[in-house]
Amino acid sequence: MSDGKRLAVLGAGAVGSSVVDLAVEYGHSVVAFADSSSAVTAADGIDADSALDRKSSDGVVGDDDPDAALSADYDVLVEATPTTLGDAEPGFSHLETALERDRHVVLANKGPVAERYADVRELERESAGEVRFEATVGGAIPIISTVEDLSPSHVTAARGVLNGTANFILSRMAAEGIDYEHVLAEAQDLGVAEADPTFDVEGTDAALKCVILANVLSEGEREFTLSDADVEGITNVPGSALELAAEDGRTIRLVGEATRDGIRVGPRLVPQNAALAVTGTRNIVQLETTHAGQLNLSGRGAGGPETASAVLGDVGRLD
Ligand code: HSE
Repeated sequence: MSDGKRLAVLGAGAVGSSVVDLAVEYGHSVVAFADSSSAVTAADGIDADSALDRKSSDGVVGDDDPDAALSADYDVLVEATPTTLGDAEPGFSHLETALERDRHVVLANKGPVAERYADVRELERESAGEVRFEATVGGAIPIISTVEDLSPSHVTAARGVLNGTANFILSRMAAEGIDYEHVLAEAQDLGVAEADPTFDVEGTDAALKCVILANVLSEGEREFTLSDADVEGITNVPGSALELAAEDGRTIRLVGEATRDGIRVGPRLVPQNAALAVTGTRNIVQLETTHAGQLNLSGRGAGGPETASAVLGDVGRLD
């Protein structure tokens, strides 16, 4: 295990807040914490409870300007601001600033590695810092590190249920025979939905995760972005379709697939007893390997502490 690291955490949503809450338990200190309008910094570690209490009560984490976190003296920048499409800003610039200072970056924000993977790798090559992003795909499930362990060239495809919100909604729709609008608010209450939940129900979030997996599998041979993905969400799946599927021993899951040739995401009929038919916010990823058949990895794919455990796992992998 690596020595304790000094973390700067950007983003005070469910994931960033959980990283701040759990960092000390993992042997690290948080020297800076920022949301979009404020920051708190302390060279010997911030008071996490008081920053998190202040976020809940006043909507700010401290009295400093957010830029104070970026310029603090940290070892690892944890980028947990909301995922944005296109130029992946402001997450990309945060990453760039950290790498230019030869600091490591651990991403929970999918934008930089889904939309600007080649740029990220180029900046990383010029820096003494490393970029890790386990938390961007499948929450607590160690998918990226498993692909690294197997070696990307020995994984031909990654397929699975990669959006907890959509899966929770489909599971509830199947159980209750109701349409998705009625359970979206419930999913949002669980704290697993994206800041913009259309990302979840329209398949964008699952597609971004598949784009990241395709980029990892391709090892720089080809760069994928969201525009390469063929995506359909669950907004047009009526409750009656799930009822019909159930008559046949089947159900519907939002399944994504990434290979070196492309990315597809959409609702698929799967047998109710199939590995892909995970329920609730669970995710599953099936890795097709060249020499070891199929590897199934399943677990909690979303949530603050769950995703924070992946972030802190990445921090532990850094030198
Ligand atoms: N909104 C995502 C989900 C969170 O529901 O799976 C993890 O990326």
